[in-house]
Formats: sequence, structure tokens, C-alpha cells
Amino acid sequence: MSETKLEDIVSLAKRRGFIYQGSEIYGGLAGTWDYGPLGVQLKRNIVDAWWKFFVESREDVYGIDAAILMNQKVWQASGHVDGFNDPLVEDMKNKKRHRADHLLEDAGIENVAAMSVEQMNEALKVNAIKSPDGNPLSDIRQFNMMFKTQVGASEDDTSVSYLRPETAQGMFVNFKNVVDSFSPNMPFALAQVGKSFRNEISPRDFIFRLREMELMELEVFIHPDSWKEQFEIWLKLQQEFYIYLGLPEDKIHQIEVPAEDRAHYSKHSIDTEFDFAIGQKELGGCAYRTDYDLKAHSAASGKNLNYIPKDGSVPYIPHVIEPTFGLDRLVLAVMDSAYSVDQQKGEDRTFLKLPEHLAPVKMAISPLLKNKPELVAKAREVFVAAKKHYGSVLWDDNGNIGKRYRRQDEIGTPQCVVIDFQTLEDDTVTVRDRDTTNQIRVPIADLLSKINNS
Ligand code: GLY
Repeated sequence: MSETKLEDIVSLAKRRGFIYQGSEIYGGLAGTWDYGPLGVQLKRNIVDAWWKFFVESREDVYGIDAAILMNQKVWQASGHVDGFNDPLVEDMKNKKRHRADHLLEDAGIENVAAMSVEQMNEALKVNAIKSPDGNPLSDIRQFNMMFKTQVGASEDDTSVSYLRPETAQGMFVNFKNVVDSFSPNMPFALAQVGKSFRNEISPRDFIFRLREMELMELEVFIHPDSWKEQFEIWLKLQQEFYIYLGLPEDKIHQIEVPAEDRAHYSKHSIDTEFDFAIGQKELGGCAYRTDYDLKAHSAASGKNLNYIPKDGSVPYIPHVIEPTFGLDRLVLAVMDSAYSVDQQKGEDRTFLKLPEHLAPVKMAISPLLKNKPELVAKAREVFVAAKKHYGSVLWDDNGNIGKRYRRQDEIGTPQCVVIDFQTLEDDTVTVRDRDTTNQIRVPIADLLSKINNS
């Protein structure tokens, strides 16, 4: 369990411009959150790290960016129209809907994941479970979690489409395109980052359970005989990426998903759970999707989705290993791990101990006093040069220097550079380290080379 409280992270995120409630001035929209200037930069840094790690640094991974809206036949063939459901019950008095499995778990009933809908109905009755408001419940109804929409002006069945609930299908329907364009050797993977949508009945816990979220997924196409070996390879890479983001290893847990609880396409799944402030919860997953998707799309579209080996051996439909990363959950895990409180001069100090490559602001530049034009002019010079070099550099001349340090600590800025009177004499500046609060004097000439731009 994390020592950090979720409300502390939510409060810092709002106060400092990381994450705001979606549609806040209208009272919000449940399950949606908006990333502010620092949040979007942090999220982008995580995406960049992922893209570098899994796409740019490898020869066997091809990035794509498919449309969110897809032909409805995609979702029929993939099994999502029939199978992407949650079991819901309705409060008979106030008509609020709740997840039956969550109510059973909250009541301490065991093995809920293994229960059929009939068994859950029975368990609700036998244990006389009521709604959270104390009212009787309806029978369970299966509720499809995809957002349905109409494409174009007509409103008949042929115009139906869905906001994608996973990015994976965009990669399966482009499998043949990439094979035709690039003739990759097996195994190879497609990678995609993008928005996905799930009509969660009870979105909760800040950016943990969302209706609109961002996923980063890989579909690794393999020969079926190698699935166990490939599964291990990609699970290990997934773990290495979490460490690369600075998540503490002892807070990361790999859990095998029992058959009854696996997604409809999976034959074997390992979830990665993380010790969040809200408890040990799912961060991402790795699934063996077999040839379920390509076979289904081949049958439904009539297109041949075989891979033809270059050595002349028998063509086959590839099987798939799928590492999935929930981007918003990674943002939360990174913020949760970085959130720190220590004592400085007898007072509590809150700071985000973000790894330098993820920090939304790399460096803050300040004149010691903002009413001294010669200090301000010199500081602007340093700021312009540093911004050119690092990009994400902030000008901060608000309040006294102590307040500026506190503010930068809270947003995780690794270094604060101050231009003072000595700078005017010898062209050196002070550089203060976020974690130790130690200060060193550095010649301006060395500033851009001395501090890592990782
Ligand atoms: N594509 C994996 C998932 O939807 O969770």
C-alpha cells in the first residue's frame, strides 16, 4: 500500500495545473478528466519514453495510428458487440445502476470472478444484498460497455459505429497492410497509442477508472509454437519499462488472471498490479490472444490474413501476444510514487521526486529579485539560452525565492537556477537540487552542458 493519500495527489494535481475535473464549470462529467499544462507534458513524456523504448529502439516494431471510429463489422467480428459486457443491477427505488460483481465483492463474497450471471443473481438473493442506498435490487442485466454512435446523417442500423474500447483492433485490421508494405520477418509487432472509451458504470478513483482513457498497446505477431517463450519475453520487457519510468520494483506485482476472469479473447493473461494510494490495483496486462482476432477478421471480411514465411514453409495465421499499458494509470502511478514529504527548516515540504526524463519542467530560471532590471535582464538571457537547449524551461519570478522553490518542488522541477548579484560579476549562477535542496555555483557557460538533458 502506498503511504500517499489519493486526495493529496488530486489536490496537488488541480492546484498546480496537472489534472482538472472534466467539464468542471458545469459540475463535471463523471469518468472524464482534463490534463492541464503540466499534466499533458508529464503524460507526453511517458508516451515518448514508451515510443522510444518499444518502437524507435527496435527493428521489429512498427508504429501505427488508426482511426478511432471503425466499421461496425470490426466490433462484431472481434466479439465486443456480444461479449464486452458488465453485469448490472438497478436500485429499484432510485434507479441508480451498480456492478453486481462489485456489490458482491464489497459484501465479502468470495470467488465472484468465477461466477456465472445466474450464480451472481443467486448470491445477491441468498445474501440479501441491497444497493449502497439500502434499497432492493433488480435482477442482473448484461450491459455493453461500448459507446454507440451514428456515422453520417442517416440513423439506421448501417450507420452504427462505436468509440473504440481498445486500440488493438486498429492494429489487427492493418496487419495485412503492414505485411504488404514492409515484408517483416516473424515475429514482429504493431504499436499504437490512443484514446479508448468504456462506458463504465461506476467510474471512480480519479484517473484510475475512466470512461475516456488512453492506452498504449502492442500486438506481437508470432508463430503459435513460440507463444510461451514470446509471452515471457514481452512480459519481461513490460516490467523493464515500468522500472524505466522509475516505479519502485517492490510495488509492482504480476498476477495470473484466472480463466473465468480473462477477456473473451485471451487464453493466458498476466496482469501487472501496482500499490496505488487506493490499494493494489491493475496497472496493465499481458494477454495471449491466440489467433482469435486475425481468424475472426479473416472469416468476417473474407480476406486472407495468413502470414507467408519467407523460407517457403506453410502459411499460417499468426498468434498474438498483447502487452497493454493504461496511460492514465501510469500517470497516476508515477505521481503516486513521486509524491514525497520531508522536513525543511522545521516545516513540511511536499515535492514530486519525478525522474528527470519525466519531469514536465526540466529547469526553472529566476532573478533573485524581480525589481532589479539588471538581474532580470541577465536572467532573461540565461532563460532564452536554456529554453532553446532544454525546451521545457519555466520563467519564475513570482513571490520570494523560498516560495518559488516550494512551487517548483511541488511540480517536480529537478533544478532551479537563480541569477544573483554575483552573476553580474563572474557569470556564475546557483543551481538548486530538488531532492537534496543543496545549491552549487555553476558558470553560465557550463550550465547547459553540466546538467543532463536526458
Ligand atoms: N486490448 C486490451 C484491453 O482492452 O484491455
